[in-house]
Amino acid sequence: MKIQIINGPNLNLLGTREKSIYGESGFEPFLKELSSKYNSVEFSYYQSNVEGELINKLHEVGFSYDGIIMNAGAYTHTSVGISDAIAGINTPVVEVHISNVYAREEYRHVSLMAKNCKGIITGFGLKSYELALQSFL
Ligand code: DQA
Repeated sequence: MKIQIINGPNLNLLGTREKSIYGESGFEPFLKELSSKYNSVEFSYYQSNVEGELINKLHEVGFSYDGIIMNAGAYTHTSVGISDAIAGINTPVVEVHISNVYAREEYRHVSLMAKNCKGIITGFGLKSYELALQSFL
């Protein structure tokens, strides 16, 4: 099974950024653990702070991979382009968030991409990615 993980803006700063919200761990060590736990899964990982690059990645993998786990960060709440890209590809996308976006500011309660995703997992820390993976398995 081929799974693409896509992280959007500011998620390159995990482990450094607002630790009380996003935790102490960087993404790479977490991904290392995840891939050794699920060693039959072929993981690819991509992070970008640039909206168009995230859309390009969705197009690139969205006709051949089995699943996409996407944390679009702040673009979740603003990007019609990312939402349209998800609608336009064949591979199912699960939207994930580290924090519980519904327990935070009101502008985080809206996801423009959710309607085009298979489901949403929010609020379980980095475990949200593992739960999304399990939904594909
Ligand atoms: C986030 C939640 C977003 O509202 C925020 O802009 C992020 C991270 C999360 O994983 O909790 O950058 O997607």
